[in-house]
Amino acid sequence: MKKKFLVIGNPIDHSLSPKLHNYWIKKYKIDAAYEKKLLNNNEIEDLIFNIREEKIHGLNVTVPFKKMVIPFLDELSEEAEISQSVNTIYKKDNKIIGDNTDIEGFKLGLEETGLETKNKKTLILGAGGVVPSIIIALKKMQAGKIYLSNRTELKAIEQKKNFPEIEIIKWGDILDFDIIINATSIGLKEEDEININYQQISKDKFFYDVIYNPPETNFLKNAKKYGGITTNGKMMFIYQAQKAFFIWHKVIPKIDSETINLLDV
Ligand code: ATR
Repeated sequence: MKKKFLVIGNPIDHSLSPKLHNYWIKKYKIDAAYEKKLLNNNEIEDLIFNIREEKIHGLNVTVPFKKMVIPFLDELSEEAEISQSVNTIYKKDNKIIGDNTDIEGFKLGLEETGLETKNKKTLILGAGGVVPSIIIALKKMQAGKIYLSNRTELKAIEQKKNFPEIEIIKWGDILDFDIIINATSIGLKEEDEININYQQISKDKFFYDVIYNPPETNFLKNAKKYGGITTNGKMMFIYQAQKAFFIWHKVIPKIDSETINLLDV
């Protein structure tokens, strides 16, 4: 029987997960199909029930549901537990399990850039669903002090409850950092701008954008213009998908240039 997989989110149009997973499904001759589904908050419970019934065999979860799905699951992996964020769901031994492959995805993606992260000062912009995964990955990589800045300060304060070691700075303030990470949704629309005085930042700082579609946000364009080193979220995205694929199909799909080029939009 063809197994069914879905990525759920709202919005979901921009997601390239179906493209990537279906490419690997075909390549490894797995009898499955992967689709995207726009979901409303009140539909989560019913959808997860479909996993219990084995009408759906796995879910990827994206904004804004990564935390919201948790009450409907039976068990969390250690990484999902510490981040309180779930991006991969499956059924095992009659239990619905939530896992988090974003942490490893972010870590592998950043490691691949060759950037030395140890003891580096990092400024994270945003306090949404992906931020706990980034903080945990940075801590695993022994990064230095982590600063967090969010338009709605209350949400930054919420994050600090789980990670007391981070420091909150006012939205709009930029301090002297080694790495700056855009974890907001600013940039998903081509014309979106983050209000930063790029000129005032010294050269050779590292700018990372979690967004991969569009491939170069204004944040990265501006950073580059003023001498910054830039990377988008593409490899993070591919690595989190690779790990989810392994969880479901027990195959580690290869990441080669064809895979990477597949996601050029
Ligand atoms: P969620 O908050 O539901 O997890 P998200 O897409 O993961 O959603 O997070 C969106 C992030 O982008 C938030 O940090 C949000 O800031 P607020 O907490 O203040 O809403 C940030 N964001 C989105 N649009 C923004 C804008 N125009 N200016 C500043 N921050 C913005």
